[in-house]
Amino acid sequence: MSESLEAAVAEICRECNNDSTRMMDIVRAVQERFGCVSGEAMELIAKAVGSHRVEVESVVSFYAFVSEKPKGKVVIRVCNDIIDRMFGADQVTEAFCEELGIGLGETTADGAITLEATPCVGMCDQAPAAIVNDVVVTSLNTDQARQIVRDLKGHMDPKRLVTKLGDGNNAHELVQAMVQNNIRQRGPVIFYDFTSGQALEKAVALTPVEVIRAVNNARLRGRGGAGFPAGMKWQFTRDAEGDQKYVICNADEGEPGTFKDRVVLTECADLMFEGMTIAGYAIGATKGLLYLRGEYAYLLPFLENVLAERRAKGLLGEGVGEGFDFDIRIQMGAGSYVCGEETALISSCEGERGDPKNRPPFPAQKGYLGCPTIVNNVETFCCVSRVLEEGAGWFAKMGSDGSAGTKLLSISGDCKSPGVYEVEFGTTMAEVLKLVGAEDAKAVQVGGPSGQMIGRDGYDRKICYDDLATGGSIMVFGPERDLLEVIDAFMDFFVEESCGYCTPCRVGNVLLKRGVEKMREGKGEPDDLEYLADLAKTVKAASRCGLGQTSPNPILTTLEHFRGEYESRTKPAEDGLQPDFDLKEATGDASQIAGRDSVHLQA
Ligand SMILES: Cc1cc2nc3c(=O)[nH]c(=O)nc-3n(C[C@H](O)[C@H](O)[C@H](O)COP(=O)(O)O)c2cc1C
Ligand code: SF4
Repeated sequence: MSESLEAAVAEICRECNNDSTRMMDIVRAVQERFGCVSGEAMELIAKAVGSHRVEVESVVSFYAFVSEKPKGKVVIRVCNDIIDRMFGADQVTEAFCEELGIGLGETTADGAITLEATPCVGMCDQAPAAIVNDVVVTSLNTDQARQIVRDLKGHMDPKRLVTKLGDGNNAHELVQAMVQNNIRQRGPVIFYDFTSGQALEKAVALTPVEVIRAVNNARLRGRGGAGFPAGMKWQFTRDAEGDQKYVICNADEGEPGTFKDRVVLTECADLMFEGMTIAGYAIGATKGLLYLRGEYAYLLPFLENVLAERRAKGLLGEGVGEGFDFDIRIQMGAGSYVCGEETALISSCEGERGDPKNRPPFPAQKGYLGCPTIVNNVETFCCVSRVLEEGAGWFAKMGSDGSAGTKLLSISGDCKSPGVYEVEFGTTMAEVLKLVGAEDAKAVQVGGPSGQMIGRDGYDRKICYDDLATGGSIMVFGPERDLLEVIDAFMDFFVEESCGYCTPCRVGNVLLKRGVEKMREGKGEPDDLEYLADLAKTVKAASRCGLGQTSPNPILTTLEHFRGEYESRTKPAEDGLQPDFDLKEATGDASQIAGRDSVHLQA
């Protein structure tokens, strides 16, 4: 056994208090240092934290950013979501392959550079993008891809790939990223000058119950997608039995087409941390966690610094309010979309695979480490700070009947001005499309791949929880786009990201994808449309968690609004043979043995 591995693993585990619930940090650190988490390393980790190798292995095999198989010193991950592909990601990938002399998923012979494809990295407004170790490179073309490889071969330092800095805090000395915020429309809630501590001061002057009442009166609903009333969730958690309670902020933002949380983390981290602290006060928690997706690791030093500054100002730590202590730790993710689902996210924070759990019990009763826990989205916590600062009435006045306030939208695709927009709930899709310069859009996918695809006849519909609900993702598709290509890409994503626990999702999404592929190849029959719809409904009804319960939505909504796209690619069976049946291929062996073709082929 290599001495240095043994010493390094021991040191890494010690830094994490030899605590098995810190497994994510441990395996990430080992991966970073050695390019893999080898069998040997797993044995060592298991011994150090008092676990079993198989448990370590189950974590390593689950997350895309850690692996047992060695990877290069530099890993290039090219984003392969549909928006990036619309803007040339396939050609960029090809250029990387040619320049490196390897295929996707391979490592150069000298073990230096690995090339991979990865689902949405949260940069759809500056696509195509890639992540090189933790460094984000955006708005790529094939020449830049080739240049990146040449540069890396020279210095092997991804940080030196950043030749120009982005706007706002992207240029901060602790970020130094070429990422752009692209904030196109500022509203009254999120992007404004915020004075640290003001909202918290108002909160701790109230009782915790009064704080929850304010959040209820503001009619604040969760901004992560489902729109559950925040105050109600907090009340359940406050009422749950347990001395220790937790606040978790969900910054996993893995839904393709969503990137507004990335911009909030870059520009409004203080506002968000303040909201988490207010939540801690309201529910009686002393500890909080920010679960940050692995793709946003470049923001980690900056966010740690914001936390340090808040501690220095007495806004975190002991005595934040009278008799109220609260602190926040950042938990890194490691490349898994399903970890955005709150129970999977909690498992991941506990150092386990990100498998969603059955509910009940809900996190409010039994969450992180078995304790009552609230999980809220980044934007939700920002809204909380503003509600406390400006008052519940101010907030509740904005928006529509069932959806108070504003919503951040991440808009990408075929539009003139992709980026982040803060709009009041109740804004119509037609108004949104005018704002972004996409009045000619053929279709809009609202709420990411798990949302709904609407067409021109739906542009008078409103952005709100009772109509067009979205966690923020709005993808625009112009008149020339092939919507079945889009749906195929969405199904690819779900097949890849299903945790595999339940059969309807694991198998059903593969079958749905095959059905869409069959249509794209022109081999569909009219009856296949009903088959696809039935299968989609079954997957929705029988899957265990939100991933499988929503993954068929794009198929169902395109069947409803764009049926012609499917019908134009179907044809009835001819001579009793299905269009995808190749008689020549099927009878090839028999023809060879018999020395003649089937009579049907001769006819
Ligand atoms: C597959 C899947 C992925 C999800 N990803 C996210 C995410 O990235 N961010 C998020 O806030 N919520 C996500 N959610 C919703 C969370 O489970 C949870 O409802 C949310 O974090 C609650 O916060 P909110 O009430 O403030 O919206 C996801 C749900 C599912 C089923
Ligand atoms: S629905 Fe899919 S992601 Fe959710 S538990 Fe089942 S297999 Fe896993």
